[in-house]
Amino acid sequence: MAFDIDMIKKVYSQVAERVTAAREITGKPLTLAEKILYSHLWDGKADKAFSRGKDYVDFAPDRIACQDATAQMALLQFMQAGKVKVAVPTTVHCDHLIQAKVGADKDLQTALNTSNEVFNFLESVSNKYGIGFWKPGAGIIHQVVLENYAFPGGMMIGTDSHTVNAGGLGMVAIGVGGADAVDVMAGMPWELKFPKLIGVKLTGKLSGWTAPKDVILKVAGILTVKGGTGAIIEYFGPGAEAMSCTGKGTICNMGAEVGATTSTFGYDESMERYLRSTDRSDIADAANEVKEHLTGDPEVYANPEQYFDQVIEINLSELLPHLNGPFTPDLATPVGEMNKKATENDWPLKVEWGLIGSCTNSSYEDLSRAASIAQQAIDKGLKTKAEFGINPGSEQVRYTAERDGLLDIFEKLDAKIFTNACGPCIGQWAREGADKAEKNSIIHSFNRNFAKRADGNPNTHAFVASPEMVAAVAISGRLDFNPLTDKLVNENGEEVMLDEPTGWELPPRGFDVEDAGYLAPEEDGSHVNVVVNPDSERLELLTPFAAWDGKNITGAKLLIKAFGKCTTDHISMAGPWLRYRGHLDNISNNCLIGAVNAYNKKTNSVKSQITGDYDAVPATQRAYKAAGVPTIVVGDHNYGEGSSREHAAMEPRHLGVRAVIVKSFARIHETNLKKQGMLGLTFANENDYDLIQEDDTFNFLDLDQFAPDRQLALEIVHADGTKDTIQLNHTYNDSQIEWFKEGSALNLIKKQNS
Ligand code: F3S
Repeated sequence: MAFDIDMIKKVYSQVAERVTAAREITGKPLTLAEKILYSHLWDGKADKAFSRGKDYVDFAPDRIACQDATAQMALLQFMQAGKVKVAVPTTVHCDHLIQAKVGADKDLQTALNTSNEVFNFLESVSNKYGIGFWKPGAGIIHQVVLENYAFPGGMMIGTDSHTVNAGGLGMVAIGVGGADAVDVMAGMPWELKFPKLIGVKLTGKLSGWTAPKDVILKVAGILTVKGGTGAIIEYFGPGAEAMSCTGKGTICNMGAEVGATTSTFGYDESMERYLRSTDRSDIADAANEVKEHLTGDPEVYANPEQYFDQVIEINLSELLPHLNGPFTPDLATPVGEMNKKATENDWPLKVEWGLIGSCTNSSYEDLSRAASIAQQAIDKGLKTKAEFGINPGSEQVRYTAERDGLLDIFEKLDAKIFTNACGPCIGQWAREGADKAEKNSIIHSFNRNFAKRADGNPNTHAFVASPEMVAAVAISGRLDFNPLTDKLVNENGEEVMLDEPTGWELPPRGFDVEDAGYLAPEEDGSHVNVVVNPDSERLELLTPFAAWDGKNITGAKLLIKAFGKCTTDHISMAGPWLRYRGHLDNISNNCLIGAVNAYNKKTNSVKSQITGDYDAVPATQRAYKAAGVPTIVVGDHNYGEGSSREHAAMEPRHLGVRAVIVKSFARIHETNLKKQGMLGLTFANENDYDLIQEDDTFNFLDLDQFAPDRQLALEIVHADGTKDTIQLNHTYNDSQIEWFKEGSALNLIKKQNS
């Protein structure tokens, strides 16, 4: 599918020299993560050893992947950059906007009927700008990337947090916001704080009921949902080498659930086998020539405590199958302990659905091992107690699994085979009865199990397990079923046990597919017309934000002083608003509606200084904009934490907010504000937050002298006529100040290209 072997060969031709230089500058042997990071520096060479967890470093990723929900705004922005083509190989994958309901054919058609406008837009933009396009039904972004684009020692970014899945094929693959992806598409460097390093040594060997999924379920239990924050997790040891490549992908995928920047494994024979079976022998041959640079140095793995910031050791021979949940993926329970824990916590023991698939666990190996359990249910006369749903990860896996009779086995158990897409994993699941909101349990092989994630019902208790455990538990219908010890009663009243799962790492007859669902872009897409209906409610071409007029902002009013936690979800909610991700004006109607107003402790209720009345935040701000009144937003600590979605910065900018002044920012949101040409400032004295009153007027005094490391002065005129002047800090460097002056980073890129 048009993977770029020349690009990969170029990476490999440089790797020896770059790794050697990195060893010299750091004065030590290197982990794999360090080798990949140091060999992808924007400047080619480091002038110092970077400080982990401290230094911001510019990188040059090899690839970009975007999924349909995030690609809309990313591509709308890229269209403004004034480029004729993306600078780095990029693909778009249509997988999030397809609801699972009755089965693949009908569900796909429904998605095409309801979201065709968005799919057509993504297809035509891709065609115009040299982006590979994967049609709806082609598969889930991360499985498709693993099958087609990931390569050992590479670096990629993707506009989805589970981009990290590609670590299974030895990459450093990182999830980012659309604005970051746009920079790289436009040929600019990508900045990342140099990560800390966590080493996970895997000894022993998986066997019986234990699967790669259980490794990450165990790691999640150890690290918790925050334990990997700011770190790359690197797996090594004999247990790692004995595991399949797609199994490694599963482990890396769920690194997102412990907050890790990404996870990775060193190049080994399982990766070589996977590359060859997915028709990429030329990459395997090229990788074999530089393989010592595609894994950590032996000294590192011999003395991990010396080289990693934290080391975890897991003996796979002793590892038990786990079920993690409900409501959080780090609540880990080994299979034999579930009865006690579920009873203590009053989790429903009856399991109503077993879902297999998602980007996490939808490989051929996953389906074959789960099918071996399903086949036993048929052979042993067991009647399935829960319903089954299957989401194959890609058309290639689906086609091959169908050819080999695996899907037929599930269908004999009345399983619904959903589209090769995210479906229930992202709440795109029209589950019958979910609206009844009754307490119930489901089990799935996905990665996330937050409340409401799968079916929108807050009372659904979702447990995460390996595909084979999902199959066994769904057949038994009981959350506390332990297939290692428990018997089931079949339709003849006989007691039977399920044997250990069996399966194939790779299809014995090889992969096959008729139409993988890929559309290559035209070599010269300059003639391609991207059509966006001006009446569309889903899509809207972006209008460049206005450049700064060079004057101090004066007479500004307070839109909202946010109280307490204000995440990107509070600033730009998800849920039903997903529909408007490609329409800035429509999605701006959710601007700050989740933020708590510090004066009345209510959400979406702020005082208009034009009318004196309280109204919704977006309506109030639109009235200020119409009246030509500038506004500011004030916030507390860690403002903008959570998702990297740039809508949270673009919406206030679009609606005419001029500055966001807070006690502290979450880093990505602060960058997003800067990129969109907004002033993102912090109180030099955080107690000045308390000085801000509801009816204040704000005058910047020295914005015309905006410069790096120079505070800005803000005059606050209170309603009683008294005044305070406070100092504001900022972290803008020279080029970021240019973004502000030009109106946005994109405006600057465009100017440089014209
Ligand atoms: Fe899709 Fe769920 Fe993965 S939403 S990308 S299958 S985490």
